Amino acid sequence: MSVPSFWLRCETKQFERRAALTPATAKKLIDAGFDITVERDEQRIFDDAEYEAAGCKLVANNSWPSAPQHIPILGLKELPESDDPLIHTHIHFGHCYKNQAGWSKFLARFYKGQGTLYDLEFLNDDNGRRVAAFGYHAGFAGAAAGALAVAADKKGEKLGLLEPYPDEATMVEDVKRRLGGSGKGLKALVIGALGRCGRGAVDLFRKIGLDEDDILKWDMAETAKGGPFEEILDVDIFVNCIYLSSPIPHFLTHETIRNAGPNRRLSAVVDVSCDTTNPHNPIPIYSINTTFSAPTVPVEVGTGNPLLSVISIDHLPTLLPREASEQFSSDLLPSLLQFPQRDTARVWRDAEKLFREKLTAAVKVESLQ
Ligand SMILES: NC(=O)c1ccc[n+]([C@@H]2O[C@H](COP(=O)([O-])OP(=O)(O)OC[C@H]3O[C@@H](n4cnc5c(N)ncnc54)[C@H](O)[C@@H]3O)[C@@H](O)[C@H]2O)c1
Repeated sequence: MSVPSFWLRCETKQFERRAALTPATAKKLIDAGFDITVERDEQRIFDDAEYEAAGCKLVANNSWPSAPQHIPILGLKELPESDDPLIHTHIHFGHCYKNQAGWSKFLARFYKGQGTLYDLEFLNDDNGRRVAAFGYHAGFAGAAAGALAVAADKKGEKLGLLEPYPDEATMVEDVKRRLGGSGKGLKALVIGALGRCGRGAVDLFRKIGLDEDDILKWDMAETAKGGPFEEILDVDIFVNCIYLSSPIPHFLTHETIRNAGPNRRLSAVVDVSCDTTNPHNPIPIYSINTTFSAPTVPVEVGTGNPLLSVISIDHLPTLLPREASEQFSSDLLPSLLQFPQRDTARVWRDAEKLFREKLTAAVKVESLQ
């Protein structure tokens, strides 16, 4: 029987510094009898040497197409566009199961090469919850970006370029410094506070020094009365972290903002949920996703009223590549350890079943049969 193995490929997406497998997780797999091959990657937040020290075999950047066929290729984000057949088993976020642009073309590559995709977004535990997700650090980073927007606003400036931080402590210190030493005195409201993103947002506010009473934590019970909510106008930062699964009344509208007049406290809205183009977006006061280079979009507030900006970045965990990778990778570890038994392990069996269904649909769309 061959030794169980994984091949960690490089990431090619701009700004992506996260890794599906960290040196610490790689070491745990090696201790459990796995062979781990890692592509050299200068973009990754972890140094190649850290993987080497953990016992991984280092290989050339982007060399996975010539990896032995039996070794599963592990990554995070999509593969670069191509028509080349995919002969390997791949584990990554495919972003191709919800009819996203190019979904059938991408899956057709697996059909042509007889490869298999296990999509990280669809590895679920027995309760149907994702085994590994980046939510906590999305909320943490989103709340930090919101606090930075408020700091800029207080100086009459617009928030400029956001760049990934080497670690969480550096982010917290930077936010505190730009707020003049601490976030004490600021007031924030987090909706979806009991979820992964929401817990991250609340923790950031605690770490930058907000008083506990100044961090309003809302979830289903508090929004059950139905919006719009005047309370949102009376905090400095509003962070939306809900998982939108059905139409709900709006949380905040242009009208409520205009009606609040010149005494409104709210200065930054961070829409971590980013249901930007969803017709049921509960915050219909903006219409674009913002970026690390232009993190905020101004809201139309009515003449004479204080400025208000929205942050709607859909890849927030990239701001904290080290901790986000560590958490994701260690949450993924139990499933990776089960991979050699993937024919019987439920998490992998379900993911493969879904892949086969989507593959059949793609084959039809691409007229391959
Ligand atoms: N912007 C980013 O970079 C980024 C990264 C990761 C996740 N996300 C998005 O963030 C959202 C939340 O993800 P998560 O992993 O935290 O989900 P989650 O399921 O862990 O948490 C969602 C929370 O929202 C609450 N909720 C749902 N509807 C609500 C309502 N109407 N009122 C109040 N609370 C409500 C739930 O009770 C739950 O506590 C998802 O849409 C996800 O796609 C964004």
